[in-house]
Amino acid sequence: MNEMSERAQFVTRLGAIAATVGSAVGLGNIWRFPYEAGEHGGGAFLLIYIVCVFLVGIPVIVSEFVIGRGTHKNVSGALKQVAPGTPLHWFSYVGIVASLMILSFYSVVCGWIVEYLIQSIAGHMSGHSAAEYSAIFNNFVSSPWRSMLWTLLFLLLNFLILRRGIEKGIERVSSVMMPLLFLILAIFCIYALTLPGARKGVEFLFVPDFSQLTPKVAIGAMGQAFFSLSLGLSCLLTYASYFQDRDSLVKNATIIASLDTLVAILAGIMIFPVVFSFGAQPEAGPKLVFEVLPNIFQQLPGGYLWSVLFFLLLFFASITSTISMSEISITFFTEEHHMSRTRATGLNTVIAMAFGTLCALSFNVLGDFKILGKTLFDLFDYVSSNVLLPVGGIFFSVMVGWYINRTFVRDQLTNHGTLHSWVIKPLVFCIRFVAPIGIVLVFLYGLGLFDGLL
Ligand code: PFF
Repeated sequence: MNEMSERAQFVTRLGAIAATVGSAVGLGNIWRFPYEAGEHGGGAFLLIYIVCVFLVGIPVIVSEFVIGRGTHKNVSGALKQVAPGTPLHWFSYVGIVASLMILSFYSVVCGWIVEYLIQSIAGHMSGHSAAEYSAIFNNFVSSPWRSMLWTLLFLLLNFLILRRGIEKGIERVSSVMMPLLFLILAIFCIYALTLPGARKGVEFLFVPDFSQLTPKVAIGAMGQAFFSLSLGLSCLLTYASYFQDRDSLVKNATIIASLDTLVAILAGIMIFPVVFSFGAQPEAGPKLVFEVLPNIFQQLPGGYLWSVLFFLLLFFASITSTISMSEISITFFTEEHHMSRTRATGLNTVIAMAFGTLCALSFNVLGDFKILGKTLFDLFDYVSSNVLLPVGGIFFSVMVGWYINRTFVRDQLTNHGTLHSWVIKPLVFCIRFVAPIGIVLVFLYGLGLFDGLL
């Protein structure tokens, strides 16, 4: 008990939710979701995505929460406690490696965002032609020094927040940034809905074209749900280890999954009308954010402000996600290797800086260095999203559904019998059956096993 009361916690319930929503809401929602939905036919993708979030996403979130909050330990310590005397705690390395891989490539995109934010504030993002916006982006990513510098600078900011700890660092930053993020998003959505292309954009997002409902779309939607909800790499387990014993895990999981989905939908409402109003293509991929949107913003009245607000929104979304990825290894280093918080944070940052630099260089000097036909940036993205996250998701749902002591699980779901809900039974069913089977499908698909079949 003594040991537990010394351990940091999120102090307020709202802070715990802000931090966890902050982890979930990131580039996955604002950049990847609209682009994936754009590629997979809008409404049909959205429909399947929501089904995946509720049938697989929430069960896996709850599984991670049960282990994290039930032990109040880092991922390795938690697995040692729930599976004593077994080698299962070695599985913690899957999450730790995955989190460092994601942090490395994600920080490169975050570096671009910081550069674009500063350029927008300085007023350099207006008055160019479409071709010039493409050239600006290409010049930027092909300059080894610039992309490396911004990646490192972003990681330094990440370090400065994390060094301050759970309450003063993560909780405080998330409690300020998340409400601002929702506010900026709301302003954008209201504005976007007044544009001439609004109707077409909203229809594209909400009216499902059922002919598009193929297994491939379904499996793509599940992959997106995993990345977007930060599932499978023990990030949510680690955050839940800082939850208080009175928090309701099922309620928190539902709020987090719902808000994450809401942000993805709002991002669609914000982006599609703008894109359709200006005759651009919604499936432009990474370019949408860095080439197409800056060009559109400058054509809008008050373009300067829209551009600054948009990159600020992306910045808030991304830094609250990177601090959560980093926390997995920081908690592991401090608790399993008895490092001070500053040292552990420093070690996490140095590793991320080393691999982040290599990822930044994959767009220029290391462009020809390929493993399995992919640059390091693409390889890290591919291996973490398509292999490590699904494997982690299967592991946590099977652990909670089948392996861990049932009383332990029930106590966590009901806060030792003080909470009752009809949701718990169907939820446990999903943890035991629906989630692992669903994820096995994504996993096999991610490995290309269904190529040619679907
Ligand atoms: N969920 C984040 C996003 O949508 O951008 C990405 C992410 C955060 C993945 C934290 C993994 C993680 F541990």
